[in-house]
Amino acid sequence: MTRRLLVLGRSGQLATSLSGLAKGAGWEIDTVDRSEADFTRPDQVIKAVHARPAIDAVINAVASNDVDGAEVDDREAIAVNTLTPAELGRACADRGIPLLHVSTDYVFPGRQGGKYRESDTPSPLNAYGRSKLKGESGVLSASARHAVFRTAWVFNGTHKNFLTAMLAQIGVRQEVRVVSDQIGSPTHADTLASGLLRAADYLLAGKARGGLFHLCSPDPVSRSDFADFIYRTAARHDGRCPRVIPIGSADWPSKARRPDNSSLDCDLFETTFDYALPHWRTGVEQAVSRWMDGRAGPSSTP
Ligand SMILES: NC(=O)c1ccc[n+]([C@@H]2O[C@H](COP(=O)([O-])OP(=O)(O)OC[C@H]3O[C@@H](n4cnc5c(N)ncnc54)[C@H](OP(=O)(O)O)[C@@H]3O)[C@@H](O)[C@H]2O)c1
Repeated sequence: MTRRLLVLGRSGQLATSLSGLAKGAGWEIDTVDRSEADFTRPDQVIKAVHARPAIDAVINAVASNDVDGAEVDDREAIAVNTLTPAELGRACADRGIPLLHVSTDYVFPGRQGGKYRESDTPSPLNAYGRSKLKGESGVLSASARHAVFRTAWVFNGTHKNFLTAMLAQIGVRQEVRVVSDQIGSPTHADTLASGLLRAADYLLAGKARGGLFHLCSPDPVSRSDFADFIYRTAARHDGRCPRVIPIGSADWPSKARRPDNSSLDCDLFETTFDYALPHWRTGVEQAVSRWMDGRAGPSSTP
């Protein structure tokens, strides 16, 4: 039997991966982009959901991810990450449809030292994290069938993210300064999307209940070691990779404070959904190849 999935968002990292992977996982997929439903306008989002009477599950791939921008003005973050997800959660609950919503490791302050579990108390350091944390509770309080998945450091080889920012420096700089005292769990967008599709399967089949889960790649790493691995991988394609110079966060001022160590423990996700999350290194190999292919395309055109 075909199951129909509605993905809110079309062009972002997660939405793109979901579109690429859903069919192979047995889902018929429909997407909604900003031109149909602006997430600062909950009425438009609810209307888009109600315009699709035959859907079985909804994944929200929309977020306002401007972490530094939200420190200056948090109105968009609150609308997109808090208020609309809560209304969406209620609308999906009224229809009896599970909503899968995505949150962030930035709900944690990062001072714990080890990996955070779902039972650990969140306490965000920045406005973005606060907006996402409130969004979690809005979604989860709407229905026991809804599920929230905290992920981290999402990347692929095509969109704007930390990995492509590093790759863009190849042939431009000889050295790149990267903070070494922020530790997290880099996660390829395909890893996140595959995990969400598995979770949607289990929720619909009644093999799992909703709730809060951590969904990212295992083996946390510092930003500078992550950058180093990206360049070591890229060096197989292009030998002009910069050298990574580790620096402290204090030497890289930004508007928003970020957690020192926001590593997430994903055991609950892996056992609940019987799913082994791949190491981020596999995702880096894939993303670097994709980025190199994209770079080769235009320059090889006569
Ligand atoms: N990226 C990360 O490192 C990271 C880390 C932790 C958690 N997460 C979470 O993971 C999820 C997926 O993130 P992602 O990396 O796929 O994000 P992304 O690439 O930034 O995509 C965000 C999507 O949201 C859409 N959007 C933003 N504001 C909107 C609005 N007002 N109305 C309608 N659409 C709007 C964007 O549309 P346009 O393309 O039209 O702008 C885009 O399609 C999010 O919940 C995010 O908070 C991400």
